[in-house]
Amino acid sequence: VRERTLIAVKPDGVHRRLIGQIIQRFEMRGFQLVGLKMLRVSEELLSQHYTSLCKKPFYPSLLHYMTSGPVVAMVWEGHNVVRSSRMLVGDTNPTQALPGTIRGDFSVHISRNVIHASDSVEVAQKEIALWFQSSELIEWECCD
Ligand code: CMP
Repeated sequence: VRERTLIAVKPDGVHRRLIGQIIQRFEMRGFQLVGLKMLRVSEELLSQHYTSLCKKPFYPSLLHYMTSGPVVAMVWEGHNVVRSSRMLVGDTNPTQALPGTIRGDFSVHISRNVIHASDSVEVAQKEIALWFQSSELIEWECCD
């Protein structure tokens, strides 16, 4: 099934110069990059992005972290890209993330976990619409 997913390199990932290695892993897997931008995220966007987390005790520190520096947001397209991206990214808790995954290779703490990946096709559609205008997404002319 051809799908799209939202991937975001979080401020710690940008700060640690991991953007290139992260893009490389998605390219190596064979996915297509259809949207890419660097931005400082607003609390307004984050409150819509993290609707299910706003009551969590860690939410204020999550907001602080996500606004502490620029983020690189991307939309990747491909067969089963939502689920495959979650596998590439690894478990949310870096202590559970396997070596070879992005979090398993680059992070040790749940609140500094380098990257975001949408967790279902429905959530991906919502997140892509929240982070990107449709005019910012490119349709590739060649086939994969
Ligand atoms: P992500 O899965 O991308 O989106 C929700 C984020 O909340 C998650 O990454 C972590 O960065 C953060 N998070 C989840 N659980 C915790 C926790 N127990 N303590 C601190 N941050 C958390």
